[in-house]
Amino acid sequence: MTIIVTGGAGFIGSNFIHEWFSNENEDLINIDCLTYAGNLENLKVLNENKLYHFYKNRIGDKSDIEKILNRFNPRAIINFAAESHVDKSIYGPESFFKTNVMETLSLLEVTKNYYDQMPEISKKKFKFIHISTDEVFGSLQLNEKPFKESNPYLPNSPYAASKAASDHLVRSFNKTHKLPCIISNCSNNYGPFQYPEKLIPLVINNALNLKNLPVYGKGNQIRDWLHVKDHCKAIITILEDGAPSETYNIGGSCEMENIEVIKIICNSLDNLRPRKDKKKYEDLIKFVSDRPGHDLRYAINSDKIMKELKWKPKIKFSDGINDTIEWYLNSSEWLMNVLDKSYDIWMKKNYNKR
Ligand code: NAD
Ligand code: TYD
Repeated sequence: MTIIVTGGAGFIGSNFIHEWFSNENEDLINIDCLTYAGNLENLKVLNENKLYHFYKNRIGDKSDIEKILNRFNPRAIINFAAESHVDKSIYGPESFFKTNVMETLSLLEVTKNYYDQMPEISKKKFKFIHISTDEVFGSLQLNEKPFKESNPYLPNSPYAASKAASDHLVRSFNKTHKLPCIISNCSNNYGPFQYPEKLIPLVINNALNLKNLPVYGKGNQIRDWLHVKDHCKAIITILEDGAPSETYNIGGSCEMENIEVIKIICNSLDNLRPRKDKKKYEDLIKFVSDRPGHDLRYAINSDKIMKELKWKPKIKFSDGINDTIEWYLNSSEWLMNVLDKSYDIWMKKNYNKR
């Protein structure tokens, strides 16, 4: 049997592939077009693994994707591929709608054609799993209950709008064409291989280079943090036991203000890599103008996946963040290589104008 993963060279996808091969003996095909966020270095230990196959393609490359599906007859497709950074979506939304909406539509059409001609017995087992985000639900006030699967979609950023649109497309292929789709909506992930544009790796990388640590607004926005390994285990649980047509919320029940997260990282770095000038990393914190449309709070109610599929997060933030910081401390070459991509130049030109 075989599964297909799209976007497997990115942060969550590459962690998923490592998690997969730590337990499974099934072929896995990774389809990724390698944007600035995709990095084959993340997967180099698998180069000799005969069960691992890589195709450099966009999910919108219809005829190539069709050929891959017909060649490998996958029992499941897990769609991680996306443009994923909110700040970038504010200043350049087009690529988000190209990949997250139009190319997801293309992938769904090809998958539907493949599914339609499958033998009945294989159809019963097939799943299309779409990896989405809690950001589609919008922003919570401090006194509101965490997002349930039944919350309305109220996306606020172009990124969240593009993910909401892709979720709706996935739902429509399930309702209209009976394609066995499942959507998972997860909270903020952290862990190894995350591109240093997102809060946690950006703070680690800037601190190590003694650059300012930019805190948007007052730093009082709240995110619900989940270690990427726990997310990957949830996806494997959904792959094996999740029910087609369902959606599952996945979260860490670990709500923290951004400023708290940044201070935890600074304190940990003070212990692990004290500054040569004897100053504290916290001295690098700089409050900057807020992100436009900045969502105040995300929080996930994971009762459904915990009750129905018996998944729960296992990694405590205090352990996970220390492991993550140590991973970045030991991966300076990885950091240098990924930052050498064109996105960094794009960021400097567009983003630092704020
Ligand atoms: P990422 O940006 O690190 O990786 C995305 C990957 O997709 C990259 O390898 C990139 O090359 C690839 N890709 C982009 N466009 C493509 C295209 N058109 N065709 C093929 N490949 C393409 O993202 P991530 O953080 O790993 O997120 C993966 C998925 O999980 C996304 O769908 C994201 O919306 C979702 N998600 C992320 C988080 C988080 O905290 N990072 C939380 C919840 C959900
Ligand atoms: P981010 O990692 O971009 O994830 P998301 O916007 O998808 O939640 O940001 C996490 C939080 O950290 C968010 O509230 C924005 C904030 N943030 C900063 O304060 N400074 C930064 O430099 C970045 C990248 C994010």
